[in-house]
Amino acid sequence: MLYIGIDLGTSAVKLLMMDETGKIHKIVSKEYPLYFPHPGWSEQNPEDWYEQSLAGLKELLEGCDRSLVAGISFGGQMHGLVILDDQDRVIRPAILWNDGRTAKETDYLNNVIGKDKLSEYTANIAFAGFTAPKILWVKENEPENFARISKIMLPKDYLAYRLTGVFCTDVSDASGMLLLDVKNRTWSQEMMDICSVKREQLAQVFESYEAVGCVKGEIADELGISHDVKVAAGAGDNAAAAVGTGTVGDGRCNISLGTSGTIFIASDKFGVDKYNALHAFAHADGHYHLMGCMLSAASCNKWWMDEIIGTKEYAAEQKNIDKLGENHVYFLPYLMGERSPHNDPAARGTFIGLTMDTTRADMTQAVLEGVAFGLRDSFEVAKSLGISISRTKISGGGAKSPLWKKIIANVLGISVDVTESEEGPSMGGAMLAMVACGAYPDVLTAAESIVRVVDSIDPDPELVEKYNERYEKFRQIYPTVKELFPKIS
Ligand code: XUL
Repeated sequence: MLYIGIDLGTSAVKLLMMDETGKIHKIVSKEYPLYFPHPGWSEQNPEDWYEQSLAGLKELLEGCDRSLVAGISFGGQMHGLVILDDQDRVIRPAILWNDGRTAKETDYLNNVIGKDKLSEYTANIAFAGFTAPKILWVKENEPENFARISKIMLPKDYLAYRLTGVFCTDVSDASGMLLLDVKNRTWSQEMMDICSVKREQLAQVFESYEAVGCVKGEIADELGISHDVKVAAGAGDNAAAAVGTGTVGDGRCNISLGTSGTIFIASDKFGVDKYNALHAFAHADGHYHLMGCMLSAASCNKWWMDEIIGTKEYAAEQKNIDKLGENHVYFLPYLMGERSPHNDPAARGTFIGLTMDTTRADMTQAVLEGVAFGLRDSFEVAKSLGISISRTKISGGGAKSPLWKKIIANVLGISVDVTESEEGPSMGGAMLAMVACGAYPDVLTAAESIVRVVDSIDPDPELVEKYNERYEKFRQIYPTVKELFPKIS
């Protein structure tokens, strides 16, 4: 049978079709615009997501035996606020995960309600990109929109709603709303009260691998697929990527180098980061995970290549980098502010250490290293919690670069395992659909049967030593310049 995974990303929707042996039959990608209406704001139109997903589904299904399609599921950009009125009309553009407008609301939640209370109710504290502070922002700044809210959704759940008519979400994505009692996998009454949200405005919560319903008859007819095609709840893109890279099972780790950069640590047991730097979320396999999230990762390299240097030849540009561990230039990758571990929407990107002999290659290298050092910041928090990680999987667009993988292996001092396909979230989505359709009994079995490691990059002790020294300097830069950011932005 065939299964479709839809990865609703920030720059594009990626659709992947695979069978239960793990063979990928086809991949299609469709872009849509991203709007920055004010510095630090980030929005998209949910209608664009739906139109491009439907167009993508049609293209994906061209030339395949449509009668074999059994299930569809998702990985989706997390935390985005989608609000619908009582006629199911989208009230305003979605406010995305990397939007930094809610500094005031985040501050209110963390300091007036209090981090202890938030952590008790949800296992997490407020970060600017999370959904609850955005709800408070709409209430304060757009009261007429707030009064019209009938449904509150996450991005991929809007797609599921359009495709099935079922108002649903899944535990992993809902964890990032700051409205879910993560430990018990149910909505928190306290958080609903704090945010003036009613239970009926929130979706029914499913496990990621559970079927929520079938594709609506008229859409199934338009696509030429059976009315029995099941739709599974799916997962936030990081949990879906974890499934797609086989990061299922206690202590397994995945790094995602997409627009954001995340370090995802699967756990069989519920646990909270006592420093509240890492998110404590539900995993798509029925268990839990800890995660650090950088707001700009592969997007830093894309910005540097496309906008500043003006080239699309990323690999050619990286060929000129030949002195790993010895760069005198440092880069703070905070182009959209930063989430983990600093929780600072005012932070900004910074080059430091430039001299007259600094080359373009040094600066390109600094960008790649800056992202790796940012990941290490979250990695250090995990280590301080007593979590020991000796290897990680890797996924996302940035994982295509052999040099970047080598830098990450050496900056973190761990082995990086490369899976056959780096299509984490869309592959994970298809695998969740397989479990929902009964092709596998559970997510762990699906992952163990499908995901194959094809290469490993081991750290080189000499280079690890050099990068340890450089990281010690990197970690001093942000505290030194931090106070300046609000003044210059
Ligand atoms: C995770 C996060 C990002 C988005 C990117 O907390 O905000 O990784 O999910 O799509």
